[in-house]
Amino acid sequence: MTTAPAPRTPGRYRVAVVCLGNICRSPMADVVLNASVADAGLDDVVTVVSAGTGGWHAGDGMDPRAARLLSDEGYDASRHRAQQVQATWLEEYDLVLAMDRENLRDLRELGAADPERLRLFRDFDPESPGDVPDPYYGGDAGFRDVLDMVERTSSALVDQIAPLVSS
Ligand code: 4NP
Repeated sequence: MTTAPAPRTPGRYRVAVVCLGNICRSPMADVVLNASVADAGLDDVVTVVSAGTGGWHAGDGMDPRAARLLSDEGYDASRHRAQQVQATWLEEYDLVLAMDRENLRDLRELGAADPERLRLFRDFDPESPGDVPDPYYGGDAGFRDVLDMVERTSSALVDQIAPLVSS
């Protein structure tokens, strides 16, 4: 597992999670990571947002399969609205986390980025690094796999961020 870099602004931490469409994987990571942040009592100092490298779904809610699974598991999936990532995020966020290697390549093409701050989401997976596979064209099992990856990775990431924002 990799190490989270120090915050750009002391005492605060900003994380962006990015997939292709911002209706399946990164919204799931956004909701779960925000819940982990809240559980750790860090919602005042840690910001989590999500976006897609593409803008086709901008303004849309989450994919209904992702939303149903999240709400079955006790998360609030209702507030998500898809948006497209902006190049300035590479200079603003402490971590920009791509769901897969294609997303990472597309983000690198947006502009210069500190390699410590632009990474794969699963670089923080305590089980194994790799892609979060796109569940869009598959069945419900793919969404369950994404949720498992996202839950364990979010928990590990918040454990790393907590000491970086404590004064
Ligand atoms: P996501 O999944 O990148 O996890 O949000 C997808 C959503 C939409 C499409 C592809 C992947 N699409 O082709 O519209």
